[in-house]
Amino acid sequence: MIVLGIESSAHTFGASVVQDSEPYILSDVRRKYVPEKGGIHPKEASLHHITHGPQAVREALRAAGVSPKDLDGIAVALGPGLGPCLRVGATFARALAAYFRKPLIPVNHAVAHIEIGRLFSGFHDPLVVYLSGGNTIIAAYAEGRYRIFGETLDIALGNFIDTLARELGLAPPYIIEGRHVLELCAEKGSKFIEELPYIVKGQDVSFSGLLTAALRLAASKRVSKEDICLTSVEIAYSSIVEVAERGLAHTGKKEVLLVGGVAASPMLKGKFEAMCRSRGVKLSVVPPKYAVDNGAMIAWTGLLALRHGVTVSPEEAYVNQRWKLDGVDLPWMG
Ligand code: FE2
Repeated sequence: MIVLGIESSAHTFGASVVQDSEPYILSDVRRKYVPEKGGIHPKEASLHHITHGPQAVREALRAAGVSPKDLDGIAVALGPGLGPCLRVGATFARALAAYFRKPLIPVNHAVAHIEIGRLFSGFHDPLVVYLSGGNTIIAAYAEGRYRIFGETLDIALGNFIDTLARELGLAPPYIIEGRHVLELCAEKGSKFIEELPYIVKGQDVSFSGLLTAALRLAASKRVSKEDICLTSVEIAYSSIVEVAERGLAHTGKKEVLLVGGVAASPMLKGKFEAMCRSRGVKLSVVPPKYAVDNGAMIAWTGLLALRHGVTVSPEEAYVNQRWKLDGVDLPWMG
């Protein structure tokens, strides 16, 4: 079985071809929109995708050595994400599926982050910690779907560290040689600042109060930027590990899988390793290359779905900007 996957939910247009035997990923082409300054501008990103998408799809097919008629299906991320961006990928995928008369497979972007992590980890039924610019979710499979066992009450972890880095004058760029600039700054810190708030409410975390307090403290110039970074990442990461540990206790899962763009953090991984060791559970972190948005995760999830007959007609393949993780049936997990 061979599936083409298209991803366009935010800054990356990805096109990839996968198959159901090793090597699973036959091609993985990415075109990333980088804003000149500030955060992502949805309309500009969608124009980028319109411009670079067709070439990316062509390259993905050529690199995989397949033509459209060899495909068993075309998978596309229909949400969650930015509407204008999602619509570009959806339009390409609908057109290709209709023209070449191939099944069209709707893929949830969040589920795809998890499935590509499961592929590389070999884990069957992990507690999932999904951390990215827009998501902070602790989830696990139960009765046909991924269920949410903890999340952020306000901003996502990735949004928190990016905003703090930007406001402290450390970014952009946010990543230098694979490391987030906030962590690089934190490594130079030496003192934990007790007045910054650690917020865990039940099973959920919260970062907006920490962000406000950290920025207010920075403006007062009473403490060093390095100590603010050190304390902020310590608090943010520890709160995630705490709710993940409760999720483990609650669900009884024996594996922990870290996925999403923030999962590549070595500091975070260190904290999870300590917690998982103490509980006697296995830990796996998605490879950094596949932690960020890519077409391979959409193609792979599409392949799993297609095996179970999950398809949509091009006329009904609408994007859903707020398509929730726990709103997706997972027939391949049973
Ligand atoms: Fe993503």
